[in-house]
Amino acid sequence: MDQIVLERPTSGANPAELASELREIRARTHRLTDDLSSAQLMGAMLDIVNPVLWEIGHVGWFHEYWTLRHSHGRAPLIDRADDLWNSSTVAHDTRWSLDLPARNDTFAYLADVLERQCDQLGRAAFPERAHYFYELAIRHEDMHVEALTYMRETLAYPQPHELGEPAASAGAGNLSGDAAIPGGTWQLGATRTEGFVFDNEKWAHEIRLKPFRIARAPVTNREFTAFVEAGGYRTREFWSDAGWAWREQARAERPAYWQPKTDGVWSWRRYDRVEALAPDAPAIFVNWYEAEAWCRWAGRRLPTEAEWEAAAIGEPSADGNRLTATKRRWPWGGATPTRRHANLDFAFDAPLDVAACPQGDSAFGCRQMVGNVWEWTASVFAPFPGFAADPYEDYSQPWFGSRKVLRGGAWATSTRLGRPTYRNFFTPDRNDVFAGFRTCAL
Ligand SMILES: [Fe+2]
Repeated sequence: MDQIVLERPTSGANPAELASELREIRARTHRLTDDLSSAQLMGAMLDIVNPVLWEIGHVGWFHEYWTLRHSHGRAPLIDRADDLWNSSTVAHDTRWSLDLPARNDTFAYLADVLERQCDQLGRAAFPERAHYFYELAIRHEDMHVEALTYMRETLAYPQPHELGEPAASAGAGNLSGDAAIPGGTWQLGATRTEGFVFDNEKWAHEIRLKPFRIARAPVTNREFTAFVEAGGYRTREFWSDAGWAWREQARAERPAYWQPKTDGVWSWRRYDRVEALAPDAPAIFVNWYEAEAWCRWAGRRLPTEAEWEAAAIGEPSADGNRLTATKRRWPWGGATPTRRHANLDFAFDAPLDVAACPQGDSAFGCRQMVGNVWEWTASVFAPFPGFAADPYEDYSQPWFGSRKVLRGGAWATSTRLGRPTYRNFFTPDRNDVFAGFRTCAL
């Protein structure tokens, strides 16, 4: 096996499986966008969203760029494609004023790229080195599918249809208490047997951990409500300087989509409707500052990403006094995730109550470490020792130092990205993504 294949392992999916992954993820992109009007396809100009029409074209461009052009040496299908859809060079604010092709033409371009990809994948001479780039492009579309989903919340568009069973009917209640995690040596990051990983996950390296206690479940809406009702958003001492500056500037009094409490009931805007908050579902759409303030109020703290990872996929020694060298593939072991383990891949249409999915517990009894909501960690997004950028150079490198790490994936996250070692990263002010948090004892 050559060095590049060793440094950029893949999932093991064969070309036929890659073709079906491509078609499945494209069906989701359609489901999230086909019902939108022309006006909705452009939407409001905000820092945190793209025009949907641009985003669709960008997804197709990314596929074409890394597979047909980079891996197979084909010429661009559209002359001006790089000027329209290269996210590294087309400034965000200009994306609303580009002369974008219409929706039908944009989707025709995506379909053309997909057919050419499938043609390549069907050839006997499909090159080994191209696997990585197909897997990269599939995961990139996964990321945009999730972004399109939370964009529909941001812009108060209707709930996407046929994406997940109703979570509200699956009430499972609360799960309280901490799990005790022994200290020891932890190998933080992806190992070489993980399959496809991103550059920022490479490679597992030794971290020393002291024993700690971490909540078995993320902070719930009920628990977050208590902070709001205790005047948490008006009490300076609960907030860091940066957190208070954000709160003042945003004039935040409660999480972004929550409505003022009426008749003793908390409700929130979910897509284009107002619904009662589910008390035992995890708090979601809270930013890192809000998580930090909640922790100060409650006398808790956020886990570091190493602590989070050890609690999720570590195992205790026989005497329970230290972490072993074992890193499970998933919190529950090696079995492929199902909806009984984790709310991933749109199994449900929203977060489940925090007591749901007991089959997905980690060795220490932590539940929902993957799926349901992303979890903010205390850690700044930084390179691991020996970091080297992969060919998609702008994926990680430009963002080191300015973002916080989130782990574990949400209900709208692909299983391909819900892996426990996958590091998501956002600026600490982002309250539009599917993020909640779990806490550690001080
Ligand atoms: Fe992108």
